[in-house]
Formats: sequence, C-alpha cells, structure tokens
Amino acid sequence: MENLPKGLASSNAGRIAQKLGAISAGRVLDVGTGRGGFISTLIKTLKAYDSFVGIDYCPSDESKKDMESARKRFEGKPVQFLQMNAQNLEFEDESFDTVCISHSLHHLANIDRVMTEMKRVLRNSGNFILREMYGDGEQTEAQRVDELEHAWEARIDALLGITHNRTLTRQRIRNIVYGLKLTEIEIFDSTHIVDCLFCERTHECEDPRNQATFHQSTKDVDNAIKRIENHPDLEARTRLIQEGEKIKEAIAEFGASNASHLFVIGEK
Ligand SMILES: C[S@@+](CC[C@H](N)C(=O)[O-])C[C@H]1O[C@@H](n2cnc3c(N)ncnc32)[C@H](O)[C@@H]1O
Repeated sequence: MENLPKGLASSNAGRIAQKLGAISAGRVLDVGTGRGGFISTLIKTLKAYDSFVGIDYCPSDESKKDMESARKRFEGKPVQFLQMNAQNLEFEDESFDTVCISHSLHHLANIDRVMTEMKRVLRNSGNFILREMYGDGEQTEAQRVDELEHAWEARIDALLGITHNRTLTRQRIRNIVYGLKLTEIEIFDSTHIVDCLFCERTHECEDPRNQATFHQSTKDVDNAIKRIENHPDLEARTRLIQEGEKIKEAIAEFGASNASHLFVIGEK
C-alpha cells in the first residue's frame, strides 16, 4: 500500500482491508445486494470464501435489471442472486458463516427486523459485517454535495413508493450495532471505502472535481430524473427536477465525494 494519496493513506481503508484479509468467510449472505458491489469488494479483500448469496427485494424495474446484470457479471463464480425480502429471510437458522449488509440500513423499512433475521441465519461465532455511510460529523464540501444528492434521491424514491430514509447518524448506526450483542466488535470510521485501494484512478479521485467523478455524478442525477419524468404528480415532479438541476450545479462547483462511513466487523 505504498504511494497512496494522502487522503486515502490517512483513512481507515487500509486497516479495514487488513482486517478483512484475515477472515475466511465460508458461505456468505449479502443483504440488500443491489448490483452486488459489496460482493466484489469482499471477493477482492477476504482471505478466503466458499460462496456468496446476494439478496434484494428489487422494488423497481431498474433494480430487477440490476440483479440480472449482477448475475451476468458474476457468471462462473460461486455467487447466486435471489429476489427476497430481508425481513423474512428464506434460509434455515445458522445456515451462513458470514452475513453482511452495505449501505442499505437507511433503505430498510424495519431495521430491527432485518438485523434479527440476519443474526438468526448466522451460525454461532460467524462474522457479521456492516458498512453504512453516515450523514453527520465532519464532511468536506464535496461529501456534503454527495449527501445532498442522496437526500434528494431518497425523496425521488419516496415519490415512487420505495423506502429510502435520510442517511443515519454515527450514533444511530452504533446503537444498531450494539443492539446486535456481537462479540469481538471493531468499528472503523473511514472517509474512503476499501475499494479505493484497488482503484487505478486514486490520484484523480483525490480531487473531488475531477472529470470522471463529475460525469458520473451528473449522470446519476440525470438517471434519477428519468425515473420520475412521467410521474403523475406534476408539482412534486417539477420541484424535484428543479432541485436536481441545482445539485448538478453544486457538483460542477464543489465536486462530489463519497460520504464517510462506519465499517463494522463482529462475531455472533
Ligand atoms: C444503496 S443499495 C446498496 C447496494 C449494495 N449493498 C452496495 O453496497 O453497493 C440498498 C439496497 O437495499 C435494498 N433493500 C431495501 N430494503 C430491502 C429489504 N427489505 N430486503 C432486501 N433488500 C432491501 C434495496 O433494494 C437496494 O438495492
């Protein structure tokens, strides 16, 4: 991990990677898997694994397509994707060696219920891994733009009838974790995700106003606008589209960077 840019080197991404690199994860369940992004992260960082099951309740046509493309992306690997509600996991008690959930807590309609289900299907002494961005604390201007975009997208989801809450505070995430009564808990607070360590564009990304981030973040806003462009509530739709344009201006002015997050590793 030499020659890392300053921001990434001083983050906890390296320590998180080191910790993951000591885990033989066995059969892994990824809850709220989306496009399977966290599975990719774990494949790159874990010491070993046997297989993954990624589940998502796929509340929209886009999310169903995301699961389809995830299936194609992981073809030939021991990775399976299932449409399932995490509130009622269709698995036996203690049937996984590791359970994980990334950036999904604030998408859940009933966090306690999902945590209980995840713990139920985890074997004794199995690994519980949680990653969740937070909305409070010291964040750079570019991170605040990301948070703004996130809060706006949450309102778009709400208009479409999809649960998406504001990002949680660090204390709320910690309380959820302590409520799990895990052992050997370690909580890392990091500005950078572990994936940054494998990015070929680390130096570029240290400048939040770099062209690649600008184009991607602007595209994300445009894609979110497309999701509501035919919505029957004209007033709500118009307001959200106008706010989306303002967010694009903020991206151009300040750039955008991932919000900081807590990364939790514990054992049942
Ligand atoms: C922001 S995405 C996280 C994607 C991925 N885990 C990552 O880190 O990139 C949150 C996901 O949680 C899913 N989700 C929300 N509630 C769920 C539930 N009750 N059961 C299963 N998935 C759920 C959403 O459909 C969405 O795909």
